[in-house]
Amino acid sequence: MQNVKGTHDLLPNEAAGFESIENLLKGIATYYAYKQVRTPVIEPSELFVRGVGNSSDVVRKEMYTFLDKADRSISLRPEFTAGIIRMLVNNKTYATEELPLKYFYLGPVFRYDRPQLGRYRQFNQFGVESVGNNSYFNDVEVIMMAYSMLISLGLNGVKLKINSIGDDASRDAYRKALKDYFAPHIDHMCEDCKQRYELNPLRILDCKVEEDIKIAENAPIVGQYLSKESEERFNNILALLSEYEIPYEVDPHLVRGLDYYSETVFEFHYVSATGNNYGAIGGGGHYHKLVKELGGPDLPGIGFSFGVERLYSVLKDDNLLPEDEDKVFIYMMPMGLQARKVALNLASDLRMSGYITDYCFDDCKLSAMFKRAEKKQAKYAIIIGENEINNDKVVIKDLNKQEQIEVPTSEVVDFFDKLGGIAD
Ligand code: HAM
Repeated sequence: MQNVKGTHDLLPNEAAGFESIENLLKGIATYYAYKQVRTPVIEPSELFVRGVGNSSDVVRKEMYTFLDKADRSISLRPEFTAGIIRMLVNNKTYATEELPLKYFYLGPVFRYDRPQLGRYRQFNQFGVESVGNNSYFNDVEVIMMAYSMLISLGLNGVKLKINSIGDDASRDAYRKALKDYFAPHIDHMCEDCKQRYELNPLRILDCKVEEDIKIAENAPIVGQYLSKESEERFNNILALLSEYEIPYEVDPHLVRGLDYYSETVFEFHYVSATGNNYGAIGGGGHYHKLVKELGGPDLPGIGFSFGVERLYSVLKDDNLLPEDEDKVFIYMMPMGLQARKVALNLASDLRMSGYITDYCFDDCKLSAMFKRAEKKQAKYAIIIGENEINNDKVVIKDLNKQEQIEVPTSEVVDFFDKLGGIAD
C-alpha cells in the first residue's frame, strides 16, 4: 500500500528534525508575546471561498472539498489565516483580549497542487497572525520576527522580498490598469486567465502558462498605482527595515496569490548550498478586510506562514539541522524473570525522573544485549542478574568509557541525578 500522492512520512530522525525546527519557531514567537492557538483541519468550504478568495488558485483548483453526510460542503484547510480569523470572530476574542491579538499556529494544510521538489499535497505550516493594530511598526515587528526565526535557524543568506499592493483605492486603480493592458491579449490567453480577467485581473499575474507569463511581463506594476498614504506607509516600513539592518529587496512584481492581502506583502527565499530551490520558504502580508468579511469588526491584520517541509529541506541540504541534544539514555539488561520484574520497575522510576530508558524484553545473552544497546546508541547499560537481585544491587556501565560500578537498586536514580544528566 502506498501513501497518497503528495504526502510523506516522517521517520524518527526526520520527525525529530521537524520538531526541533518547530520548537525554535515556537520559542521565538513566544518571546514576541504571541500565544499558540489551534483550529480544526476541516472548515466550511465557504470560509475559504470568502476568506482566501474565489479568484485564487488555492480555492479554485487546489482545495480538498467534499460533502459530509448532511450534504454540507467541507474543505480541508489549504492555509491557516482564514481559520484563525473565523476562530477569533466566533469567539469574539477581540472583545475580551487586548489588541492586537497575537496568535501563532502550526499543523498540516492541504492543497491539491502538482507534487514536485518542495511541493506537497499535505504539508505543514508554522505561522503567526497579529490582528487589531494598523501601525506600520506592527508590520515591521512581524517581518522582524520572521527574519529572526530564519536567522536563528542558521539561514543567513535568506532573501526577503517585499512589495506593497496598496489600499483599496490603489488596487482598484491597478486592477483597472491591468484590465486595460490585458484587454487586447485576453482572447489568446488560457481559459483560467479569461476567468481571472473577470474575477480579479491581479490573479493573471500568478498564471504559470509560458505564453501568458510572457504577456504579463510587460504588464503595469502595482507600485505605479499606490495612493499617497500607501506609498508613505511602505516607505516608512522600508526605512525601518534598513535602520534595523534587515536586508530586503523590493520586488515590484510580488503580489501574492491569496485575495485577502492589502498594503505590505512579503516572501522569504533561500537557495541551499546544493543549488536546490524549493520555492518560497515563507510568505505573508497585511490584510484589511478579512475580519469584516468573515463577520467580525473592522480590524486589520498581518501575518506570515513558513512551509516547515521547505525549512527542513534547506536546513538539511546545508547541514544546519539542529543536533539532537546529548541525552542520557539508559538500556536495561535484565537476566532472568526475577531481574526483569525489578528492571521494569526501576525503568519506570528512571523514566518518571526524566531519563530516557529502554528495556530488553527478550531472554538473550548479555553480549546480544550489549549489541542492542549500541545500536540504540544508549549511553548507559543497567545490568541486573541473579547476583545483583540477591544483593539488591545493579551494575551500571558507562558504554562510552567502558567503566562499570555497582549501585544499590534504591540509589540508581540518585546516581544519575548526581551525574547532572537530567534529560529533557
Ligand atoms: P502561502 O504563501 O500560500 O501563504 O504559503 C506559505 C508557505 O507555505 C509558502 O511560502 C511555502 O513555504 C509553503 N507552501 C505553500 N504551498 C506548499 C506546498 N504545496 N508544499 C509545501 N510547502 C508549501 C499562506 O498560506 C498565508 N496563509 C500566509 C499568511 C499568513 N499571510 C498572512 N498570514
